[in-house]
Amino acid sequence: MSINKNVKKITVPEIVNMKKQGEKITALTAYDVLMAQILDDSGIDIILVGDSGGMVMAGYENTLAVTMEEMLFYCKSVRRGVKRALLIADMPFLSYQTSIEEAIKNAGRFLQEAGMEAVKIEGGKAVKDIVKKLVGFGVPVMGHIGLTPQSIHQFGGYGLRGKDDQIAKQLLEDAFILQEAGAFSIVLEKIPSALAKEITNNLDIPTIGIGAGKDCDGQILVSHDMLGLYEKFKPKFVRHYAELGKSMREAFNGYINDVKNTKFPSEDESY
Ligand code: KIV
Repeated sequence: MSINKNVKKITVPEIVNMKKQGEKITALTAYDVLMAQILDDSGIDIILVGDSGGMVMAGYENTLAVTMEEMLFYCKSVRRGVKRALLIADMPFLSYQTSIEEAIKNAGRFLQEAGMEAVKIEGGKAVKDIVKKLVGFGVPVMGHIGLTPQSIHQFGGYGLRGKDDQIAKQLLEDAFILQEAGAFSIVLEKIPSALAKEITNNLDIPTIGIGAGKDCDGQILVSHDMLGLYEKFKPKFVRHYAELGKSMREAFNGYINDVKNTKFPSEDESY
């Protein structure tokens, strides 16, 4: 692993401090070295190796099928491309829920084998003891509440969470529990903006929103979504900053046409 000494690495305390300074935190996902390198060069604060990789890289229907070995492969690839951004590994389904021992062992693998600097786990009160233990052993933990994709079968789909008072109250409580347990930040996914604002204003640790409005301390999107590469569905909270799917189709069609019509390679492209 080679880390360029001239580039200042972003750390967990710096991310926490950004909230105190009122500086918005930027986060996107990556699963491979080239995407990670380009993201890092662009100046992103956090790169999350999300289990969303199972959907956008491997083509699974949802994130439940993603394994530790797949996540480790993505994480090692991303690690090789990054000098500056804070690197967070998403712990896949069943890698932390079965026992605290399993959670410690698997979180440890992300730091020890893949060079990650923190892990993200889904859930509130139910994962309190796991968060406490991991943080106690020096593993920084990012929480994730609201729409937690590893629980979609329980929720019955990808709908907005926390629109009724009881769930909103529970999410606020979960956020406090995670902070108390030692999490350094919390992802708030697909919850009403007003609730995200209330959680954000009441916590000392930063909130990172995805479909949670502008008042979170930072924002995260799946890179393949914001680049217009993942075309299966587009939630309202995704903004396309590029149309790479369209550009790639045009490029591939251009190549196919040129080869079929003997326009590629040219004399200049030949020896
Ligand atoms: O897996 C993922 O990419 C995530 C983000 C959307 C927060 O959990």
